[in-house]
Amino acid sequence: DTSQQVPGGASHGAMLDLGRTTSNDEAPLVTACEANQALYSSFILDPMHFYIYGASVNYSLSPAMHNAAYRICGMPHDYKTYQATSLKGLYDLVSDPNFGGAAITQPYKIEVIALTHSLSRHAKAIGAVNTLIPIRNLPPNGGIPDDLSFLQERNHAGPVKALYGDNTDWIGIRVCLRRGLSPVNAVRNSSSGLVIGAGGMARAAVYAMIQMGVKNIFICNRTLENAERLAAHYNRLDTSSFTPQGPAATVRVIRSYTDAWPEEHRLPTMVVCCIPANSIDGQPAANFVLPTKWLKSPTGGVVIEAPYKPLVTPLVTQIRAEAHRGWIAIDGLELLPEQGFAQFELFTGRRAPRRLMRKEVLRNYRNEKGQRDVDMLQSRIDRLEDQT
Ligand SMILES: NC(=O)c1ccc[n+]([C@@H]2O[C@H](COP(=O)([O-])OP(=O)(O)OC[C@H]3O[C@@H](n4cnc5c(N)ncnc54)[C@H](OP(=O)(O)O)[C@@H]3O)[C@@H](O)[C@H]2O)c1
Repeated sequence: DTSQQVPGGASHGAMLDLGRTTSNDEAPLVTACEANQALYSSFILDPMHFYIYGASVNYSLSPAMHNAAYRICGMPHDYKTYQATSLKGLYDLVSDPNFGGAAITQPYKIEVIALTHSLSRHAKAIGAVNTLIPIRNLPPNGGIPDDLSFLQERNHAGPVKALYGDNTDWIGIRVCLRRGLSPVNAVRNSSSGLVIGAGGMARAAVYAMIQMGVKNIFICNRTLENAERLAAHYNRLDTSSFTPQGPAATVRVIRSYTDAWPEEHRLPTMVVCCIPANSIDGQPAANFVLPTKWLKSPTGGVVIEAPYKPLVTPLVTQIRAEAHRGWIAIDGLELLPEQGFAQFELFTGRRAPRRLMRKEVLRNYRNEKGQRDVDMLQSRIDRLEDQT
């Protein structure tokens, strides 16, 4: 349906005003989707191949989400999974003149930095890349253009000369934190945020909080040294250049879930849980819940659970039971499309059809047993009307 309306501003089926009208003045001649299709069928733009690259991507919802978006925008691109045990496979992808870009997932988000020639300031600060963009034209001096002019080459095939790395994970986390924070918990210098985990997603969660102006950020993780390394990474950075105003953020480690919340700081009103919720390699699932003593913020707060298999984790259940005290749980299925929008826009240069992408994620979701809870998913699809 080329005239489908897309919320959040742009309408991909919106009629273009080309100064021409038919006999009916209300009916323009061409939709944005048709205009796009014309650019590709006349070879002005090229069909591109995109991938999600990682060690465990076969169940990924990203291909469904991105392919549906290409279709509604009239782009002949495709987006596939690439399951890999090392980064070597990337060389094959990049050698294809129609390589458009790749989403990078576990466990390669840090390792892939060595293959990039240039990083966005966000990826540099986070120390992890989840989006790779090909660079096809280098200036005569061979350097990487720092004005991002290479982004003009999107949707044009040709030999890839270099790779640019960006990170969109933090954008999705920031959107969800803002969505769940009630006005009474608006970020102040005294606000505290808590991140569970110390892997790639936890890095992005800390950065999202810094970007929101949170000054007191705490990390708790199974392996203490990893939490300390992550805290040291951010404490070494000049975070004042990323934060809206006021003092720089400080990232501290809480050593154990049995510890009391540091009494000189307010209880957290923002929590992002970045540890897997499923069983991995035969190990029991983490079954993580927050210590109840850390959930005593008098104004409640927001908790994001990053994993989405299973969807209703012990943490989500715990936070839903605290709804009467102002706590809001946001699950991984709500988070997933939010970072996908930024990725779509980086890959194609077009505004992402947000509602459609959210809907595709919900339409294609299956639980760990491959089953679909039709009623629950449909009621979530129906509620999408409310989101921007
Ligand atoms: N919804 C979304 O859009 C989205 C996006 C990205 C990621 N995610 C999900 O977020 C989770 C984390 O991803 P990531 O990229 O950060 O992974 P990662 O880099 O592999 O980090 C995993 C973290 O989880 C901890 N951990 C692993 N198993 C644990 C267990 N059984 N008990 C306690 N802690 C455990 C690890 O602790 P150690 O340091 O002790 O090893 C590490 O801190 C994954 O489930 C992923 O699917 C969701």
